[in-house]
Amino acid sequence: MTDVRSDTLSGFAERYGHTALSLWSGPGRVNLIGEHTDYNEGFVLPFAIDRRTFVAMRPRQDSLARVGSSFAPETVEIDLADLRAENVDGWSAYPLGVAWAIGQFTGGSVPTRGFDLYVHSDVPVGAGLSSSAAIESATALALNDLWETDLDRRTLARVGQLAENKAVGAPTGIMDQSASLLGETDAGVFLDCRSLDAEVIGLGFEPAGLAVVVIDTRVSHAHATGGYASRRASCEAGARTLGVEALRDVGIARLDEAREMLDDETFRRVRHVVTEDQRVLDTVRTLREKGADAIGELLVASHVSMRDDFEISVPELDLAVESALGAGAMGARMTGGGFGGAAIALTPIDRVEAVRAAATRAFADASFREPISFTVVPSAGARRED
Ligand code: GLA
Repeated sequence: MTDVRSDTLSGFAERYGHTALSLWSGPGRVNLIGEHTDYNEGFVLPFAIDRRTFVAMRPRQDSLARVGSSFAPETVEIDLADLRAENVDGWSAYPLGVAWAIGQFTGGSVPTRGFDLYVHSDVPVGAGLSSSAAIESATALALNDLWETDLDRRTLARVGQLAENKAVGAPTGIMDQSASLLGETDAGVFLDCRSLDAEVIGLGFEPAGLAVVVIDTRVSHAHATGGYASRRASCEAGARTLGVEALRDVGIARLDEAREMLDDETFRRVRHVVTEDQRVLDTVRTLREKGADAIGELLVASHVSMRDDFEISVPELDLAVESALGAGAMGARMTGGGFGGAAIALTPIDRVEAVRAAATRAFADASFREPISFTVVPSAGARRED
């Protein structure tokens, strides 16, 4: 039987002509709620999913880093002494960017013990499930072990974010890497993105008879360009005008005043972030007090806010959400950075097939590309596999 784990080991052996010594894995993530709040120093509640990226590695005796993967034919080579954020590109910017970023957190220069590394994954790419954070977290754990740099998981999340910001060039926040590194089975990671304090919150989907359906619209998005950066810029402009360090510091009670001080577009961007922070807190409280079947309305309110105020949804995501709700989902929203990717639907287990079929039918009726849907389970974070 082939699986991602054994295919990674055989892929390594084929690529390099010798066997790997160790294996690590990192999961993708779904964000349950808290979108575009991370870089505003607010709150998020993502969970790690049961789709993982595996990284097989063998140390070398020299200072060469060689990285290969099942999603590109080439093997990229660089002497670690020459590694900079600026001289990596393509998919290898993720693992090599992590190698560079570890150096930034350990005194400024990249450790020079070389390695052969091979990446293979079943996290869908471009679906908004953080295939990139999955590579980063697995690689960060692998290199932290190889180089004995002893960075803790929170710092490794910052390593991944730095790689993404400087080597890949996407101005993203800390959520995805934190979810991938700190996730636990059946739990969400409630993260304060200012202090980086994280609390694991039991989600209890299965006992409540619920499943999470992911509806991948297959509309592709890229956060290194365009809308993501412009939303971030609007938030920063709003914070400056309101005289706060970050939108985290604006409470709902200040929104009336904010409306007077900001132009309409910036106000709506700010309102999304401020209300979304509150929805994360409300979701955590509701999960604790009432359970998973009581959070549906919060998920829907989050989607509406992203659609109307933050304007990061697309017609396919709106249709995925509407069709899921129409077929019996308790709540649904787009997840991730927006402009494409996936929606999630919190669905009674006996309605899962109806929700998937409804999305397929609605997309066909609208002449959209056929969506891909599947369920995900909140799962363990990144780990060494051997
Ligand atoms: C992307 C980024 C995250 C976060 C989300 C939006 O996934 O990588 O840091 O900003 O978008 O919530």
